[in-house]
Amino acid sequence: MRIVVGSDHAGLKLKTELVSYLKTLDGVELSDLGTHTADSCDYPDYARPVALAVANGEADWGLLVCGTGVGMSMAANKVAGVRAAVISDTFSAAATRQHNDANVLCIGERVVGGGLALAIVKAWIATEFEGGRHQRRVNKISALEHA
Ligand code: RB5
Repeated sequence: MRIVVGSDHAGLKLKTELVSYLKTLDGVELSDLGTHTADSCDYPDYARPVALAVANGEADWGLLVCGTGVGMSMAANKVAGVRAAVISDTFSAAATRQHNDANVLCIGERVVGGGLALAIVKAWIATEFEGGRHQRRVNKISALEHA
């Protein structure tokens, strides 16, 4: 499993915690594209390379952390092929994998505590896309990229 991660300064602490966890998993190839310092920076600058890596097939999924997760998701969803979801509960983490085939997980460090964020990542990793009728709907999302 190839995972690409990124954050801005507001998501650095949580990203660091989640990267530590992901590094403990067998079979994970991790690429951390920053930020690596607490200096103020702009979340689209980190959403862009993560989203492109997922869209280009260089990574299976992406993890983006900012203050709310919202700015990261807005930026990542501008890239064709990306289905980024802002998640703050484990039910939605599983459901967005099952139903939306979400491929970029966005979490807000100012919204979600470290324990819940870890549970969200575990639920995300453990859950597969169900296909079937959901594939038809995901195809309709993709069609909107040309609307
Ligand atoms: C940074 O202050 C903050 O705006 C950013 O991390 C994020 O929450 C934007 O959506």
